[in-house]
Amino acid sequence: MALVTFSSPLLHKDVTVYAIAGDRGTILSIAEKHDIPLPFDCRDGNCGSCLIEVEHLSDKSMGEMLTDKEKGLLKSLGKLTTEDIARAEVNDLMPRYRLACQYIVRDEEIRVKFTGSPGGA
Ligand code: FES
Repeated sequence: MALVTFSSPLLHKDVTVYAIAGDRGTILSIAEKHDIPLPFDCRDGNCGSCLIEVEHLSDKSMGEMLTDKEKGLLKSLGKLTTEDIARAEVNDLMPRYRLACQYIVRDEEIRVKFTGSPGGA
C-alpha cells in the first residue's frame, strides 16, 4: 500500500490518498483518479508539464527507478544532476524532482508537491 499526499497552492489543503502498490499506476494517474489538478500534456515523459517535487516521508523508498527518458528531460530542465543519477542508481536514493507521468508508485509514503503551473515544482 502506498500513501501519497498531494500538496499544491491549487488545493485548499493537502490531500492524502491510498494507492495500491504494484498496480503500475503513475503519480499522474493516481492524481487524475482523485481529481487532483496536476498539470500534464504528453503523458509520455517528453514535455515536462508534470514536474513534481517528491519528499519521502518514511524510510522505505521504493519508487520506480528513473527511466532514460525521465533522466534526459529532468537534466535538460536543470532539475537533475549526474550526481543525482549516481545516488539513485548506486544508493537507491530517489532524486528530489520527478515526472508524475513516469513515476510508478510502489510501497512507500511520499509527499508530492506541484505549483499548478505546467513544469513548475
Ligand atoms: S506529461 Fe509530459 S512529461 Fe509528463
